[in-house]
Amino acid sequence: MTISNKKPFIAGNWKMYKTIPEAIEMVRALKESSPEVTGAELVVIPPFTALKDISKVIEGSSVQLGAQNMSWEEKGAFTGEISAPMLKDAGCRFVVIGHSERRQYFGETNETVNKKIKAALAHDLIPIMCLGESLEEREKEKTIEKVGSQINAGLEGMGQEEMSRIIIAYEPIWAIGTGVTATPAQAEEVHAFIRERLAEIHGNKTASCAIILYGGSVKPANTYELLIEKNINGALVGGASLEADSFIQIAKEAIRAYKEKT
Ligand code: PGA
Repeated sequence: MTISNKKPFIAGNWKMYKTIPEAIEMVRALKESSPEVTGAELVVIPPFTALKDISKVIEGSSVQLGAQNMSWEEKGAFTGEISAPMLKDAGCRFVVIGHSERRQYFGETNETVNKKIKAALAHDLIPIMCLGESLEEREKEKTIEKVGSQINAGLEGMGQEEMSRIIIAYEPIWAIGTGVTATPAQAEEVHAFIRERLAEIHGNKTASCAIILYGGSVKPANTYELLIEKNINGALVGGASLEADSFIQIAKEAIRAYKEKT
């Protein structure tokens, strides 16, 4: 199961929002509008509790399902953890790994990210690996160094075949949930660097096919200007993905940008 960046990839990370009835209501609305945005890959990433119900709602539509986190263990005495086979069982195709909130509040490191990516791939889930710098790192001009080290450590041991099944999301921490978006030029600089780094390690073909998302205060009004950039293949959306209308609007803007640049 490989992935391609021929269409923009728009994923909505709901974080710790929505009860099961709220989740179902939102996804029903999304499903209804989804025929308008078949030019984009559309993925919802709800809390664990809503996964199974949502997988039933989206059946027969183009909307796909992902989870926000997983354990690197397959099963065992790990209270509170959820494994890759459990996510598959609930209908997931994607899983977010190493979101900055997981790194910041729950002690995740490049090493745990690496283990989780390997476990996701082993179970045929597509990991969306998040990385990005803090405000302090940006101000000290350490952005590229930080992102480079996260790529090296997070993707250690991956070969070309594995890379064809991994999505990368660049999310500057200072832009997440703050309403402050990276400028298209700031985002593109880092995206271009990530693609170059992938080319150095895995060759041009793998790098040119890679899906590299931008995340951090993406909304309908700034999607076009970000996605028109050469190396930005989609968006990982938090707040603006909670309502079907704005999420669909983002997908439409992404399709418009993609049409123009390709
Ligand atoms: P935001 O979140 O769109 O609310 O800034 C993005 C993310 O955390 O993935």
